[in-house]
Amino acid sequence: MELPFVPYRIKVVEPVRRVSREERAAALAKAGYNVFGLPSSSIYVDLLTDSGTSAMSDAQWGALVQGDEAYAGSRNYYDFEETIRDIFGYRHVIPTHQGRVAENLLFTTRLDKRSVVPNNIHFDTTRANVEHQGALALDCVIDEGLDPTGEHPFKGDMSLAKLAEAFDRYGDRIPFVMITITNNSGGGQPVSLANIREVSAFCHGRGVPLIFDACRFAENAWFIKRREPGYGDRSIKEIAREIFALGDGCTMSAKKDALVNMGGFLCLNDDDWARDITNLLILIEGFRTYGGLAGRDLAAVAQGLREVLDDDYLTYRIGQVRRMGEQMQARGVPILTPVGGHAVYVDARRLLPHLPQSAFPAQAFTCALYLEGGVRGVEIGSLMFAHADPETGRTVHPAMELVRLAVPRRVYTETHLAYVAEVCGRLRECGERLRGLEIVEEAPVLRHFTARLRPLGGGSLIAD
Ligand code: F0G
Repeated sequence: MELPFVPYRIKVVEPVRRVSREERAAALAKAGYNVFGLPSSSIYVDLLTDSGTSAMSDAQWGALVQGDEAYAGSRNYYDFEETIRDIFGYRHVIPTHQGRVAENLLFTTRLDKRSVVPNNIHFDTTRANVEHQGALALDCVIDEGLDPTGEHPFKGDMSLAKLAEAFDRYGDRIPFVMITITNNSGGGQPVSLANIREVSAFCHGRGVPLIFDACRFAENAWFIKRREPGYGDRSIKEIAREIFALGDGCTMSAKKDALVNMGGFLCLNDDDWARDITNLLILIEGFRTYGGLAGRDLAAVAQGLREVLDDDYLTYRIGQVRRMGEQMQARGVPILTPVGGHAVYVDARRLLPHLPQSAFPAQAFTCALYLEGGVRGVEIGSLMFAHADPETGRTVHPAMELVRLAVPRRVYTETHLAYVAEVCGRLRECGERLRGLEIVEEAPVLRHFTARLRPLGGGSLIAD
């Protein structure tokens, strides 16, 4: 096996405690078979999210000490603005404390109850923020992007036919179009520059701006460099600039590709949009040169953005995720393919065909992964998405039952991830011994965060 080049070494470590199976079983029961209720001190490998979980570099930690905490005009803001302009190219750079605030500011000022926003696939908080304005969030990803097994290289691409249909149907009710890079809800799949160019021409032909949800833009650019003809010799920064030049602004959760634990921003070219948003920002987040962040946080974001453009870093990071996926496949664990940039998605329907969706197979696998190996993933299936049909009252289940194993950036070693693949393999061998779950308690909205469940038929989650 050819060993990968690891573009950093470890300077500070965070000890991890060994937790026994008995302790894990008790913690899981106490959490009501919901991994959001587990304390992180009871977890060995935490793959709940890649958001805000990155390890910062020595240069980022160093930058923190140089924070200029002036209320207005912090020198860190000017560096933040200049760094972002250099990559993203937009005129206005507005800091926020995380991605969903950037979304909320944009949606509050530009949407009303009649509005319709097309996206390849809206991430849950993005969808929730659109719907919070009474507007309609429309997903227009290509059909291949909804098939967990196809090998299309750019499954995040937007369908021009679906977009055209949306414009025919909703016309002037569409204030802007969004593209999420990479497409998190569709498996962390990239969007091609060819597709972005087409969508951009389509939108601009109708006088409608194009806005990127840019959380994982560098990972998306890496896939373009590797997979799209004509980009092999271009740098990640050049590709990123080419992407953003085709749009009119972006929302960004810096908790992903800016390699920080907290932060975000919004970029726009339009002066009127930026003015309205800045006024609202001052009301809810803070002055326009800090937007809910400390000066030192702005410094860490700027430094993180410079680091994330490194091809060696991205090759190792995306390679880590892919290798974990390949090790799972070698053990017969069905996963969504091709493996995306930030996570491996286990296909629980294929893995546990004995469990109907009403028995929450993806949640059962998520819980078993913790019980068996101290590994935390997250369910993206019926617990998150099943809902009652407003007309018939019948339960509508989502098309896919997935367990997302999102890899934090620069945090885990190959050994940790090989271990996760091994635990998944062991669980596959449990087969029908793995029981389904039923809900004991649930909230009316976003129930997956707080619901309490129990194994069907009582007793343990994995039968003896
Ligand atoms: N857009 C995308 C595509 C995201 O993945 C997220 C967050 C957001 C927007 C919101 O950003 O958390 O900074 O407010 N995704 C995290 C995840 C939570 O686990 O995938 P935020």
